[in-house]
Amino acid sequence: MAHRITLIPGDGIGPEVAQATKMVLDAAGVDIEWIEKKAGGDHIHKFGTPLPEETLASIRETTVALKGPITTPVGSGFGSVNVKIRKELDLYANYRPAKTLPGVPTRYKNVDTIIIRENTEGLYSGLEHLVIPGVVESQRIITEEGSKRIIRFAFELARQQNRKKVTAVHKANILKLSDGLFLEVARRIARDYPDIEFEDAIVDATAMRLVMDPTQFDVLVMENLFGDILSDLSSGLIGGLGMAPSANIGESYAVFEAVHGSAPDIAGKGLANPTALILSGTLMLHHIGEGNAAKRIEKAVEKTLADPSNRTGDLGGKAKTMDYVKALLKNLEET
Ligand code: NAI
Repeated sequence: MAHRITLIPGDGIGPEVAQATKMVLDAAGVDIEWIEKKAGGDHIHKFGTPLPEETLASIRETTVALKGPITTPVGSGFGSVNVKIRKELDLYANYRPAKTLPGVPTRYKNVDTIIIRENTEGLYSGLEHLVIPGVVESQRIITEEGSKRIIRFAFELARQQNRKKVTAVHKANILKLSDGLFLEVARRIARDYPDIEFEDAIVDATAMRLVMDPTQFDVLVMENLFGDILSDLSSGLIGGLGMAPSANIGESYAVFEAVHGSAPDIAGKGLANPTALILSGTLMLHHIGEGNAAKRIEKAVEKTLADPSNRTGDLGGKAKTMDYVKALLKNLEET
């Protein structure tokens, strides 16, 4: 029976990388019925909202979605569709692996970290208000329950994937109450996992340590904003945003998307690197029990990127999105 998957192409480079990903997943022989749905600012005139109810309803029905990036206007305008999807579906865990692929030119050869970002609380709660003209207050929500479930998620994942260490990243030296709570919960939960090394680290020092020597980290767990920033940093260690996949996981639903945004500077030009969404697609295949197809695609991606003539501009190459996809499809046939 076909897997029913909601596909949200998004905007900017979204439709280009979504099309590329769909071609690769279909070519791997996985029987997928794609249910395409809209989201983003371009659809407000038709639906009256950037996140139509029918799009959310489709994810609720299929329980799994593959999503391209969606632009969020800066300063004013509608709020983030991405944040709204994560909150509406309670996709509390954002899984962001950063692994160097052989053949891709990077500063470090053996990066292999996973950032687990809390996806529903922190400063992304969207609770901001004007106190008096000139003074704005934003609320950063950290709850014991939210901390418990994300930290447990990180330890469970570490155990499943035979990982050695979990680092809880925080700013509890300054944010004594909120990050103090997060850290206390992390220390408590760590005691249930004596087989996994546990450390805690202050977020600013973690940024420096990641840049100096990322191999000292394994699984890192943190609240929303820290995870947003450090996962972009981590993507820079493995070749850039074009290489970084992610998964948003909750109890009932999962939405797979690249770490990157809509890249308006290169949108519509056929220049985007679709690897990040393709690898998000392979995370999705693992999730739906199609691990063999996922591994074939991962191998074909490695082989394709090992040849410099297949690399897109972000990796220092000259290939266009579809040149890369063509080479990848050929390698997939031979894998
Ligand atoms: P961005 O990730 O879109 O772009 C940053 C830089 O990386 C740009 O130079 C871009 O060309 C490059 N880049 C990103 N993805 C690439 C790819 N696949 N191939 C080659 N180069 C790539 O970040 P930016 O410019 O800060 O955000 C643009 C818009 O995207 C904003 O409206 C932001 O809110 C939204 N955004 C959406 C996300 C989502 O839908 N999950 C995540 C992050 C940002």
